[in-house]
Amino acid sequence: MKDIRRQALQVALYATWLAGLLCILVSLYATQLLPGLVEQRDVAKNAMALKVTLFTVPEPFQGIVGAAQARAIHSWLRLSPDLRVVLLGKHESLTYFAERLHRRVVVDSDIDFTFSGAPLFNSIMASARSSSSDISVLIDPQFVLLQGFIDTLEHAHSLQHNWVLVAIAKSLHAFPFELNSPEGLWVDEDSHPIGDEQVHAYVKDHGVWKSCTGRYLWAWSTENVPLHVGVMPSFVYGYGFHHEWLLNEVLSSGIRFVFDASDTIMAFYQSDFDNNYHFDNIASNVRDRSWEADNNAHLAALYGSFYFRPSDFANSPAKLVRCGDPSLKVFRFLYPLLGIRGSVEVGMPASLSGHDSVEMQDVSSRQQPWNESFLTSVRRFGLAWRQTSALGYRCASAEVRIKTRGHTSLKKLMIGRLRVSCDCSNNTQEMRLDCPSSKMRRLPKLLRSRSSMRVTSESMPMSLDSLLAKVSNIDKVIVLSVVGNNYRNMLMNWVCRLRKLQVTSFIIGAVDTELYEFALLQGLPVFMSGPSMNLSFNDCHFGTDCFKKVTKMKSRMVLQTLRLGYRVLFSDVDVYWFKNPIEYLVSFGPMTVVAQSDQWNVTEPANKPRRLNSGFYFAWPDSSTIAAFEKIVKHASASNMSEQPSFYDVLCGESGRHRLGDLHCLEPETNVTTHFLDRQLFPNGAFNDLWEQKNVSEACRIQGCFVLHNNWVSGRQRKFARQFASGLWDYDANNRICVRSRTL
Ligand SMILES: *[C@@H]1O[C@H](CO)[C@@H](O)[C@H](O)[C@H]1NC(C)=O
Ligand SMILES: *[C@@H]1O[C@H](CO)[C@@H](O)[C@H](O)[C@H]1NC(C)=O
Ligand SMILES: *[C@@H]1O[C@H](CO)[C@@H](O)[C@H](O)[C@H]1NC(C)=O
Ligand SMILES: *[C@@H]1O[C@H](CO)[C@@H](O)[C@H](O)[C@H]1NC(C)=O
Ligand SMILES: *[C@@H]1O[C@H](CO)[C@@H](O)[C@H](O)[C@H]1NC(C)=O
Repeated sequence: MKDIRRQALQVALYATWLAGLLCILVSLYATQLLPGLVEQRDVAKNAMALKVTLFTVPEPFQGIVGAAQARAIHSWLRLSPDLRVVLLGKHESLTYFAERLHRRVVVDSDIDFTFSGAPLFNSIMASARSSSSDISVLIDPQFVLLQGFIDTLEHAHSLQHNWVLVAIAKSLHAFPFELNSPEGLWVDEDSHPIGDEQVHAYVKDHGVWKSCTGRYLWAWSTENVPLHVGVMPSFVYGYGFHHEWLLNEVLSSGIRFVFDASDTIMAFYQSDFDNNYHFDNIASNVRDRSWEADNNAHLAALYGSFYFRPSDFANSPAKLVRCGDPSLKVFRFLYPLLGIRGSVEVGMPASLSGHDSVEMQDVSSRQQPWNESFLTSVRRFGLAWRQTSALGYRCASAEVRIKTRGHTSLKKLMIGRLRVSCDCSNNTQEMRLDCPSSKMRRLPKLLRSRSSMRVTSESMPMSLDSLLAKVSNIDKVIVLSVVGNNYRNMLMNWVCRLRKLQVTSFIIGAVDTELYEFALLQGLPVFMSGPSMNLSFNDCHFGTDCFKKVTKMKSRMVLQTLRLGYRVLFSDVDVYWFKNPIEYLVSFGPMTVVAQSDQWNVTEPANKPRRLNSGFYFAWPDSSTIAAFEKIVKHASASNMSEQPSFYDVLCGESGRHRLGDLHCLEPETNVTTHFLDRQLFPNGAFNDLWEQKNVSEACRIQGCFVLHNNWVSGRQRKFARQFASGLWDYDANNRICVRSRTL
């Protein structure tokens, strides 16, 4: 009896299994036979797995702004399980916020910041560009998103071209709904759940488009195709110009198809949460008067074609609009009339589902002074489509093919047609994506006089003491370097290294205006160390008169900084930092100058005459040390050599009269001790032939180096070559950003 039952069960199981197999075979056959007909289903399926990473630069998650950001981010996460969020920034509240969201939200603090703590736009974009998902998004942290966002991305993803999407959001004063975070449901005032359509309708009716808000959403397909030609300069994020500049560049570069999806995405933010992090109005905000805003204006004028556009020029790419019921997911592109007489109609590729079309639409009756490259770009993309598709749609409606699958057999596939109207309302047309040049206060000023584009030392944002106060920590330790334009890339490499080691309390003394301007535009804490010197690019190396002059600025700057009460770690920019030496250096205590030894012979004492290297040392601001430095500066000014011998002759006495043992000197008048650093830990460029090792970094790691000095090499070129070849190089000079190892 049992056996029969078991047999019956097995037969039933086989039958089910066979039926299942048959089903799979049939559907495979169908897929092969009728690709056009089942495509739409596949599209929908693929789209669901669309990997999207949203990058955003939030303010600290505190107070009302923090709450607005949290609501926005929750509104993103509920849209798709394949959506991830990367918070760019270093405030600790970002980490607390991310931790509660189970790996779907991560924090990336490995981006470049100005000394004032603002992130740099080029570094943000580089981070977003490195994403491995299908689509990268850079979004304002307060933009709330609805289903329309995902629908739009799915549609964009189905395009055959590389694309960039740009959108602004509607601003709302009051918003009666709330997001019930755990379930991800919108609820009304009575806590009744409502659908996205209702929220969408409310935003559509009550929200207003505002231009020049500095709030944008960007999204792009992540192929290995740049967004624009040329280099993105180091704009300070949130201080104006960078979004408008980028829009201008992506349009005029013509590498990607650019469209405005503000209307289909229908993102929104609440304007009563506005704060001073972003501009709501570039013309009135206090940020307008900051050096960061000045920097951005200069960079916008110096790079790309933004500066050359007519003052009433407005960037208006194609617009994406929705047709018919949102559930149909039908979209069409509208083109502004390009100052061309008559209506030009351009076909769009019958993209996968075959219901798209494009037509030129007179979005604005204003005749725009289009720039030629933009026209070229539109023609290029426009003509490519003309060949692949039929024309003939009017804005009022679109024809949609409706496909329904029959219950039992493929023969019952039903195909219908439906005319739906598209949303080409005035509402869309009034929206202004760009901020016209005339509204950007600084640019016209710059336009009047090109010579005023030079950042001069008179526009120095801060004096040495205010700069010191700004960058120093409570421990009042300052890392100082003094450098000229001939070493600007070496400086940037050094800065990148410090950033990586999370050392932020550094300042840079510029010996010429070129370096000063350069460093300022990179957002570095820089000051002019004196009247600008005229450094020759390649002939200012060790031993030259030029070199001697520059080095003497160094001890002067250190003395000034000591007098202001800071402990100073002086480091030349050719000193490569493997690990942060500050804690170790501080441990020697006051009245001690801790310095690198230039002695290369291992068996010889480190403190032999003239073996003090003045390219790396640490000093305390006690009165004895200050007195010793006054002596050094005085000695150096009377000397016809560089400052380095003056350090030794003052601190250790001529011919080493004040040497104590093999590692110390004691200056008798001031009682300042000089401690020569262990050469294993702080090797000079000739010690142990480290620079000749196959793997310098590995050799140094084994030896335990804190730093390694790239000295004992003659000529600037050879110094650079050696550093490059060793791989101790962390700066991407082409993109002007620090190199990082991670990908997201
Ligand atoms: C800098 O020096 C070079 C030659 O060494 C000279 O041609 C140039 O005019 C000088 N510039 C200034 C601003 O003095
Ligand atoms: C290093 O110094 C010692 C004397 O202290 C000397 O005998 C030796 O030759 C020196 N090494 C080199 C490579 O010059
Ligand atoms: C530097 O000055 C010293 C005297 O202080 C003198 O002996 C020497 O020749 C001078 N060197 C040069 C290069 O002028
Ligand atoms: C240096 O030390 C000696 C002995 O410890 C002391 O007599 C002298 O006053 C000190 N000088 C200074 C400038 O502190
Ligand atoms: C050098 O050694 C380090 C480990 O210290 C390793 O990560 C690196 O890949 C090595 N570089 C080369 C060029 O072999």
